[in-house]
Amino acid sequence: MTVRINPSILSADFVNMERDLGHITNADFVHVDVMDNNFVPNLTFGPQMVSRIKDVSRVPLDVHLMIEDNDRWATGYAELGAESVTFHVESTADPVAVAKRLREIGARAGLALKPGTPFDSVRDIAHEFDQILVMTVEPGFGGQPFMNDQLEKVRQVAQFRKDTGTSFWIQVDGGVDENTIEFAAEAGADTFVAGSAVYGRDNPALAVENLRKLAQTHHHH
Ligand code: DX5
Ligand code: ZN
Repeated sequence: MTVRINPSILSADFVNMERDLGHITNADFVHVDVMDNNFVPNLTFGPQMVSRIKDVSRVPLDVHLMIEDNDRWATGYAELGAESVTFHVESTADPVAVAKRLREIGARAGLALKPGTPFDSVRDIAHEFDQILVMTVEPGFGGQPFMNDQLEKVRQVAQFRKDTGTSFWIQVDGGVDENTIEFAAEAGADTFVAGSAVYGRDNPALAVENLRKLAQTHHHH
C-alpha cells in the first residue's frame, strides 16, 4: 500500500528554509501552510515565498491554503508550480470551479474540511477533487493535539471513496505523530502531514521513514 508522508515546514526554521527543506528529501511532498491572519488567526507567507520554496525544493509542493477568497488566490499557487493546491470549502464561492482551474493548470486539487465541517456538506462535490483533507486540529498552528473525534470523518470519506470507486487521496493534518498516525491509517487515511513530529525530532529524515513504516503497517484500505 502506498502511503505519503508530507512534512509541514510550518515547524521548520523560516530563516533556514532551504537547509530545512534539504533535511526531508525522502518525503513525498513538502506541506506548505499559507495563512492570512483572516481565515485563521496566524500569518505565514504568500506566493513570493512559496515560489522560492518551489525553486529549491527537491520534492513536490503540497500547498495548504488557509486564506480567504480562493476564487481569487488559489490558482496563483498552481501557476508558480505547486503540484498540489488544497483550499478550505468555506474559502470560495465556487469550489468546483476553483478545482477545475487548478487541474487545467496542471495541479492536483484538494478540498479541506475543518473539524466542524462535516463530510456530508461536500459529499456531492468530492469526486471533483484529487485529495480530501480532514483536519485533525483547528487550523492555524502546529503542535496541537490530534483530535480523535475526527477519525469518524476519515472513515466516512474512506467509505465514500470505496462505494463510489473514486480515487482521491485522503489526507490528515494536525497532531500526526508516531502514536496517532496508526489510528489515522486504520481509519483510511493514506497521506499524512506532520510538522512537529518531523522537524521537532533530531533527525527529520529518520522521522519521515519511521512515520512511513507505521502508516504502512496499519493501513488496510
Ligand atoms: C495547522 C497546519 C498544519 C501544521 C501541523 O493549521 O495546517 O499543517 O503544520 O503541525 P503539527 O503536525 O505539529 O500538528
Ligand atoms: Zn496544513
